[in-house]
Amino acid sequence: MCKVNFANEVTVTPLTPVFGAEVEGVQLASATPEQLDAIKEAFWQHKVLVFRNQTLSVEQHKAFARHFGPLHVHPRYSHLGAPGDPELFIIDTHADSKYSNGEAWHSDVSCEPLPPLASLLYIEQPPPDGGGDTLFADMCEAFDALSKPVKEWLLGLTAEHDGRKDLAAYNVRLKPSQTYPRARHPIVTRHPETGQPILFVNGSFTSRVIGLAKAESDAMLNMLCAHIESNPRWQCRVRWSPNTLVMWDNRCTQHHAIWDYYPHARHARRVTVRCTEEPKAWLQP
Ligand code: SIN
Repeated sequence: MCKVNFANEVTVTPLTPVFGAEVEGVQLASATPEQLDAIKEAFWQHKVLVFRNQTLSVEQHKAFARHFGPLHVHPRYSHLGAPGDPELFIIDTHADSKYSNGEAWHSDVSCEPLPPLASLLYIEQPPPDGGGDTLFADMCEAFDALSKPVKEWLLGLTAEHDGRKDLAAYNVRLKPSQTYPRARHPIVTRHPETGQPILFVNGSFTSRVIGLAKAESDAMLNMLCAHIESNPRWQCRVRWSPNTLVMWDNRCTQHHAIWDYYPHARHARRVTVRCTEEPKAWLQP
């Protein structure tokens, strides 16, 4: 497992040979342009970055995220009128919670026409007895592991991602006056920076494959979701320590928050980066 030392002392240590890395030697609140360049390079390469021992106010958290693009507003604010800072997504699970946010494999709000580029989650104090880890899965590796006939079958297909499917998992139903994002995306997308093919379906949002009968569509999505969940080879697990920020490339990874710390609480704040282009289909070279 190699460590990469950039000239400015940013050290990147892979979490697994496939993806994910811990980054040391930088304070995100005061990163230099050279350190930011090193972080961006590491981000495209490793897809999930873990920064420990970071002191970050809300404004510093947002300022760091803005180095990657404009900030995203979650549809719970834009469509459901939730109160609070629209650039912050708060995850608050406690002993009285009925659900814990993100406790299923998903990418963030893939139901939007422009699903977010990145999410940056910060936890000051993880649960006192441990737990609350986040699992990640690499969707480039998951695509690569499919057999050639299945890859060829998926190329050219499009799927619908429906936010109402995700809301239903939290028992939220829209009022007649409310709408929520729904969008169609290629099943195999192309990473804008690396050009890699990405398997872009997830169990929380992807509702159907366009042009297939319901039984066919359900069977295909069940098969792909089981494939994504099945193999730890394209997964990694992040254990939170106090004052840790984890950022993930939302276009080519999925994540799953583990709720194993009942009756303790877990409080996290997420700042999300908007993508400025829609997912494009990967075209076989
Ligand atoms: C999420 O952003 O889906 C939640 C991830 C987590 O709480 O670990």
